[in-house]
This record gives sequence, structure tokens and C-alpha cells, in this order.
Amino acid sequence: MTGQSKTRPVSRRRLLTGGALTVGGAVAGAAAVIAATGSGDQSGEPAPVAATAAGTGTGTAAGTGTTIEAFHGPRQAGVATEPQAHAAFVAFTLHRGADRAALGRLMRLLTDDAARLTQGRPALADTEPELAVLPARLTVTFGFGPGLYAAAGRDDRRPPSVAELPAFAIDRLQPAWSGGDLLLQICADDPLTVTHAQRMLVKDARPFAAVRWVQSGFRRSRGTQSPAHTQRNVLGQLDGTANPRPGTPAFEQAVWTADGPDWLRDGTTLVVRRIRAELETWDKLGRADKELAVGRRLDTGAPLSGQHEHDEPDFSALNEGGLPVIPDFAHMTRARVTDDRLKILRRPYNYDGVPDADGRADSGLIFAAYQADIDRQYLPIQRRLAERDLLNDWITPIGSAVFAVPPGCEAGGWIGERLLG
Ligand code: HEM
Repeated sequence: MTGQSKTRPVSRRRLLTGGALTVGGAVAGAAAVIAATGSGDQSGEPAPVAATAAGTGTGTAAGTGTTIEAFHGPRQAGVATEPQAHAAFVAFTLHRGADRAALGRLMRLLTDDAARLTQGRPALADTEPELAVLPARLTVTFGFGPGLYAAAGRDDRRPPSVAELPAFAIDRLQPAWSGGDLLLQICADDPLTVTHAQRMLVKDARPFAAVRWVQSGFRRSRGTQSPAHTQRNVLGQLDGTANPRPGTPAFEQAVWTADGPDWLRDGTTLVVRRIRAELETWDKLGRADKELAVGRRLDTGAPLSGQHEHDEPDFSALNEGGLPVIPDFAHMTRARVTDDRLKILRRPYNYDGVPDADGRADSGLIFAAYQADIDRQYLPIQRRLAERDLLNDWITPIGSAVFAVPPGCEAGGWIGERLLG
């Protein structure tokens, strides 16, 4: 517990008698579950309370699973939202013949599911309605991959940079983790909530699309540490320090599309790279070398030229030997962008699969980067890193996919309406 929670558990009785701060729909939804199951007050389960604005990233530490992220709004939640602890990235391949009308039906259905589930209400025909009542800051964020536009007869409206990334020499891409026509990024602070939302959404998508891949990931559990702390990744590094901060002009400019195709205004684009961490060789590296690879200290995350995590790095600082304190080929040096408009938002999750028979981990990052435009922002950084980055010896991209993330919608609307409607 961080002690920063603005939410508190509320009994269903109190909720139903109107004694709590709630989102109206949540009350109705909880009531519907109670009506459907007849479980009444006996369960003692808290009901959803306290909305946070969609995409503001101002979500507070929840001591319970009842905190809600708003679904409706001009922008989709799950981008500026303070990253939840668990995520499933689900990519689909559209069935042949899924045309614009079919895609419209699909998106209406999935939007309705997402609007309900994120507010702690069961999906229509939810087979396990009790699993919906603890949304735990659930967000469902939709992305449209390169193949969707042609299927919809809208190839002329595909944002030019929403196309497969060029091949890089460092890539060892596997089809099993690459591509996709439609993406759902499902995030919540509770893994059972993610699993339930995923199952409901996948079931409803079944007549229109096949599951292509699912990548499940995690960050620190909510309550383990104050959200003000930068998270650590599986390599032990503080990861996210130099990210643009939600609510700042820098974030606005970097993340939200203002000059793309009209339908994408207030949307963004997403690159998902599955990047394996070569932990066996990383383990053999001394601490000082691990720090040189990134250009930051492992304990504090401070740049090697400074004291504190958020100190401005001094790339001109030299050591006694006359060498740069932060190597020219350190990950941070190569990835550095100073123009706010050219930055990217990194919202990565760790993954950890089953170790091989010798106990070698299958671990790494589901590296998710949001930016207004992939060509302008993501690609120049990726090119520099692929060309030369000390960290490359210990990381291997094994999956790659790109999506446009349409704007949000208001109640009664649906995600993608401006493109598919
Ligand atoms: C497994 C793969 C990766 C790991 C473990 C990793 C790790 C890190 C770490 C530890 C930092 C320094 C702290 C911070 O600012 O967050 C960092 C910074 C950064 N990384 Fe990565 N990274 C990975 C992949 C990538 C990729 C694929 C890109 C983009 C193509 C990227 C772009 C950046 C950027 C833009 C910064 C901030 C640089 C600055 O302005 O200081 N990283 N990364």
C-alpha cells in the first residue's frame, strides 16, 4: 500500500443506497450482477468507485480493485494512463471477407464490451458476470494494423507510417510475435480482471477475426511501490526515467496525432516490439559494464555524469582517462532526443515465459512505444539503436507490430467510427 489511494472499499449496501462517490454506470452494473446472481450483500465484495479521467494518467494507487478509468472521452485510455501492473496485448488477423460493414459491427461490439468492463459492469451476455465487478483500473485500447485499411476499402486513409517497420540487422523476428490487423491492449492492476476482459473480447471478435498472438506482461504490482517511482525491468534497470510526463505540453506534442489523417486526430500510433533479454550473458557482465551499456547507474538510475535519477546527463563530461563518462554508444546516448516533438512514450511490460530444461529464462520486454508519428519519431531512434547501441549484445528483437490508435469516443459512439463509419 502506498497510502496515496483516493479510493476506498464501499459495501454494496452503501452503494445501492446512494452513499458513495460512484460512476452511475458502475452502480447499475453492480446492481445488475447482484440481480443476476442474487448474491446481494453477502459477498462483502466492494463495488467500483472513483473514476479517473481517461488518459490523464492521474490514476491513484488503489487499495482495492474498484478504481475505474473512464472509458469515454476524446482520447482512448491506456496511453496516458499511469501503467497498470498487468497487460495483455492481443493481436488479430481479420477473416477474409471482413469488410467495412463487418468491421463496423465488430468495433461496435468490442466498444460496448470495453465500455462496460472498464466500468466494472459485465459485458453483454457475460458468462462470468462476477468477474467484471473489480475493474482494477482496467483499460482496453484499440489499435488498427496495416492490413485493416485495405480490408475496409480505406487504404487511402491508412496513415503512411502505419506499415511494417523496415528490417534491422539486430532483428530475429518470429512470425508468432509479429504483425496484426487489430490490436487490443488490455491493462489492469489485477491479472484475473485482464484475463476475463480478454476472454470476453476475444469471444466477441471470433466471427470476424482469428487470434494471431497474445503477449502477456507485468510491471510492479500496485501498492508495492509509490507510482512516483520509475519501475525496474527484468534486467534490473530503472526504465522510464526520460519519458515525457502526461499532462505536460511535451507529452501532448509527442504522443497525440495532430497533423495526420483527419480521422486519427487525438489518436496516436503504437509500435510493439517483443525484445528478448539475453539474461545468461547479462549475468556475466560486471556492474560497471552494465551501467556503461545504458549510461545510467543501476541503483539510482542517475546518469553516469550525475548524482540523481533526473539530473540532466552531461554527454561532454570526461573521466580521468579523457574518455566520455557516458559512452558515445551507450543506449541512452544513442536513444537521446532533445526536441519534445520527436520523443516517444515508452510504456513497456516485462514478460517471463517458461525457462528451458536447463533453467535459462525466457524473459524480456514487451516494448510498447506511443508517438504521434512512427516515421518521424520512432524510426530515427530505432535506426540509431540498430546501427550501434552497447545494449544490443544483451537484447534481441523477436517480434514487431505497428498500429494506429484511433481517437476515443463518447457514449453512444464507437472506436474507429471516423474511419469505418
Ligand atoms: C529490451 C530493450 C530495452 C531496454 C532494456 C531498454 C532500457 C532502457 C533504459 C534502462 C533506459 C534509461 C532510463 C530511461 O530513460 O528509461 C532507456 C532509455 C531510453 N530508451 Fe530504451 N530500452 C530498450 C529498448 C528500446 C527501444 C527499442 C527504443 C526505441 C526504439 C528505446 C528508446 C529509449 C529512449 C528514447 C530512451 C530515453 C533516452 C533519453 O532521452 O535519455 N529503448 N532504455
